Order: sequence, then C-alpha cells, then structure tokens
Amino acid sequence: MTEHEHRPWWHETTIYQVYPRSFADSDGDGIGDLPGITARLDHLVDLGVGTIWVSPFFSSPQADFGYDVSDYCDVAPEYGTLADAEALIAGAHERGLRVMFDLVLNHSSDQHPWFLESRTSRDNPKADWYVWRDGRGPGGRKPPNNWRAAIEVKTGWQWGEERQQWFLASFLPCQPDLNWRNPDVKAAMFDAVRFWLDRGVDGFRLDMFGSIMKDPEFRDNPLRPTMSRVTPPRLYPHEFTENTADNIELARDLRAVCDEYEPERVLLGEVFGPAEVLQAYTGGPGGDGLHLAFLFEFLVFRYDAGWFHDVIARFEHAFPAPAQPTYVVENHDRSRSIDRLGGDEEKARVLATVLLTVRGVPTIYMGQELAMANTYRPLRDALDPIARSLAWIPEPLSKRLPERLNRDEVRSPMQWDGTLNAGFCPPEATPWLAVNADHRTRNVADQDGRPWSMLEWYRHLLRLRRDHPALHAGDLHLRSGLGAGLLAYDRRHGDDHVTVAANLGAAATWVEVTDDQRLLAASAEDVHLADGRLYLPPDRAAVVGSAPPNTG
Ligand code: GLC
Ligand code: MG
Repeated sequence: MTEHEHRPWWHETTIYQVYPRSFADSDGDGIGDLPGITARLDHLVDLGVGTIWVSPFFSSPQADFGYDVSDYCDVAPEYGTLADAEALIAGAHERGLRVMFDLVLNHSSDQHPWFLESRTSRDNPKADWYVWRDGRGPGGRKPPNNWRAAIEVKTGWQWGEERQQWFLASFLPCQPDLNWRNPDVKAAMFDAVRFWLDRGVDGFRLDMFGSIMKDPEFRDNPLRPTMSRVTPPRLYPHEFTENTADNIELARDLRAVCDEYEPERVLLGEVFGPAEVLQAYTGGPGGDGLHLAFLFEFLVFRYDAGWFHDVIARFEHAFPAPAQPTYVVENHDRSRSIDRLGGDEEKARVLATVLLTVRGVPTIYMGQELAMANTYRPLRDALDPIARSLAWIPEPLSKRLPERLNRDEVRSPMQWDGTLNAGFCPPEATPWLAVNADHRTRNVADQDGRPWSMLEWYRHLLRLRRDHPALHAGDLHLRSGLGAGLLAYDRRHGDDHVTVAANLGAAATWVEVTDDQRLLAASAEDVHLADGRLYLPPDRAAVVGSAPPNTG
C-alpha cells in the first residue's frame, strides 16, 4: 500500500495490439511496416497505453499473414529489417513504452528450411523436427488418428508424398506442427526466443500456446455423440491435442527462459479452456508459468449488465490478486466491437469504460479507440486463408454466421486521417486491403482534440487509470442487487476510492455514491451527480471518485 510497494510492470500495464501489415506504410508499397510503426509511436503515447504488442513480422511467405514463419530470427522484407525491429524497440523504450512480439511456437511455415528438409526423407537430419506418422489402412493412406485442425478441413493430417507419411498441421495445412518432443527443436526454438530477448523485447504474446504438446501416444480424441459435420472446429474434442500436462510444463520451461533476463520479461498466452486450465498455465498467484493468459469471453460479450457482472465476478474469482485477469474485446481474428453493438457509439463508450476500469490487463486492438468498424468483404474475395476455405458457404448464410467472419474485415488499414488511403499509405499507393470508406469521417486527425470523440474518451479513461491507484492497483468490489440494466463496482487502493457505473438497460437509473466523490468521467453530457446519487440515462457510463492522491 505504500509508494514503495513493488508491483511488477505488467500488473499495471495496458496493451495495444498492432497488426503490422495494416498500421502504417512508410515506403509506399501499400503494406504496413516496422518503420511505419516506429513513426507512429507517439499516437500510442498520446493514447496513454503502456505496452505495444506487434503481431508477427518475421520472415514468412504470408500464407497466414505472418503466422506462418519461415525464419524466427529475421524480418520479412516487406516489413523491414532486423535494424528496423531494433529501432522499434528502442523508439518504444525512449517513450516509456514496453514492447511485446508475437511468438508462433506451435507451427512454422511449410516453407521453413527445417520443414523443406524434414519432408524429403525419413532419415534426414531434420526428419524428426515435425510431427510425422505412418498412416492407417492399405498403403497407410488413412490419417494416423482422428485429430482435427482448428479450421474446417477434414483432418489435421497432411500427406507427405516423398516420405509416404502424414504430418500434423493443427491450423492451416501450410503450417506444419513442430515436434517439441525433440530436444533439438526445443533448443532451437528457445534460442529464437533468446534472440529477441537479447534485443530487449519486454515479452511475448504466445500464439496457440495450448496446442504445442500433443499426446505422445497419439490417442484418438474421444468423439461426442452430439458432433456433426457442421460442428465448428473449436467444438471438436481435443483432450489429447490441447492443454495436456506436458504443455503446462512447457509454460514453466519458457518462463525459465524469460527469467534469465532483467528487467522482467512477460508471457501472455493465447490459450483456450476453463478457468482451472488457465490457472494451471499461470501457476496460480505469484506463479511460475505464463504471467498472463488471455480471457476471451469479452470478445463475444453480450451487451447486458448481468452478463458483464457475472463474467467479471468469474474472472475475479479465478484470478485473485496478485494474479491479473485480462480483458479483450477485439483482435485481428474477431469482429470489431462496434459491429457487435449495431454501430451504436454510445454503447461503445460504455464498453470502453468497463474495459479500461476493471482490475487486470486490458488490450486494445488498433483502431478500436476510433470505433473502427468491420470493412465488409465477401468470403469469395477473401485474402484470409480461413475465409477462403469457407468461400463455398453461400453469402446470405455466411453473413448469419458471425463467428465465421472473413478476418480481412477487421484488418483494414488504420485510419489516420480523411485523405485518400487514410494516411495509411501515400495516396498514389494501393493498400493491400481496401481502406474502410468511413475513414473520411472516422480517423485520428478528426477525433484528436474533438470533445466527446471516441479517441478522446479512450485517452481520458486511460489517463484516469494511470492517475488513480484505485484503478491501476486497487481491488474490485462488484455491487449486487442493483436495478435492472445497471452494472457498478468500486475500486479501492489505500485512500483512493473510485466507483464505476454503467447503465446498459433501457430506462434511466441511478447509483449511490459517497459525498466526497465527484465526476471524473462521464460518457455523455447528460450524466449528472446530485445529492449522493449518480444519474445515468440509458447507455451511459461514468466514473466517480476523489482527486487522485498524486495530482492533488
Ligand atoms: C492464432 C492467431 C491467428 C492465426 C493462428 C495460426 O489464432 O491469432 O491469427 O491465424 O493462430 O497461427
Ligand atoms: Mg510498406
């Protein structure tokens, strides 16, 4: 509770995800790049986030736009050079920002030299670097077992003609799974991790971390009777392919690599599973595994006070202090939140209030701070390989399957200004993905300094979060028994007490506050405070509290 209390930096940080291909193009080839990011770092400083997470920019044939790596220790030429990556780290550090890169450990590209060698024969030096198996049936032409991929293909196994064997590809067929049970693979991959740690990166987001260690006996995943041909891949059983005990052990091994370094480097896992599993990855409070695990429920939030109350309660229960829950409403794989809200900016302001005032580590996806929307693109025109594989689904149906989104739609270029190409690339260049037509009215330049803009709302909330120990270090107490539609919680740290209230219901409502609390933030002008009550019209949120101790 004292000023000298040691809190690891990652307990108090906020993360901003940059999808490098779409953030800022510095050389006019229509593709975002590392120098582009470095040149725009002040946007992050002005926004007030603490950490930038950069999606993969490593050497890659870009079949999955960088999540298919062909050299873990180099930069794809369209994104820049190693020196540019170092300049990005240095530029961020000069500004007091931390940097996280994105590690794709489960699989490489099928163009990685390791795989090109591995696939040639059963006895080359890299033969055992990927997960190869003999098939079943005559000529071994049936896949070794029933393991499925995370996308809609028939099997997770791909046929390797030269070896007359199958290799596992748990995501796309062009992303063969590395064989982490081979000590040489583990050593090579940990060396790649150290390569970036040596260059000063502050941590990593871990792609598909839960899938790395599969069952060593290759047992079939038990099928459930309710499964059918249209069961989405996430619902396939994965007892033997995800979150195995060995995989949780791997979290500790990777943590040990990070712990070789000072200051503290941080691991944020993309892992899916119930709370107990996620806890196992982090190793519990003060744990020895991953520092943080993404909690993805908010990606599919229901705009409903009871829903938010219950999910926050569950996260609080599963990740009690000093553990930190994480909160995320958008990323490069899922719909923009404004689209989930029917385009309603008042609701988006309520959502931002909750995201940035709960206890834990929030993540903002680039452009979310402008209320950037999905840029519609039919499946048949998709560049996203997953969407392309679904192009057979007829249009009206695909539109009704919101989770089967074309990921291109959330990867359109960042909207910096209202000019042609939105300031993402020069007007004469062709952006790799079309800019959203709404960039003329929805962009950084326009929202900068404009009262009540979404950007200013994000900035204001993030400033409050930094200024108030209650918000960046305090505990969280959910109020219950409130009127329908109302969500409220108190955050406290020492003498600092902040109350957050959000009205997600259809009728105006109010919540009790203490005498010394004044309005610190209101999502609209019609919110007011009188006689110990905070009055909220529908779709409004507000933060009340005393002046922060350090600013007087
Ligand atoms: C993760 C990434 C996604 C990528 C996949 C395969 O889910 O978020 O973008 O396609 O892993 O690496
Ligand atoms: Mg470029």
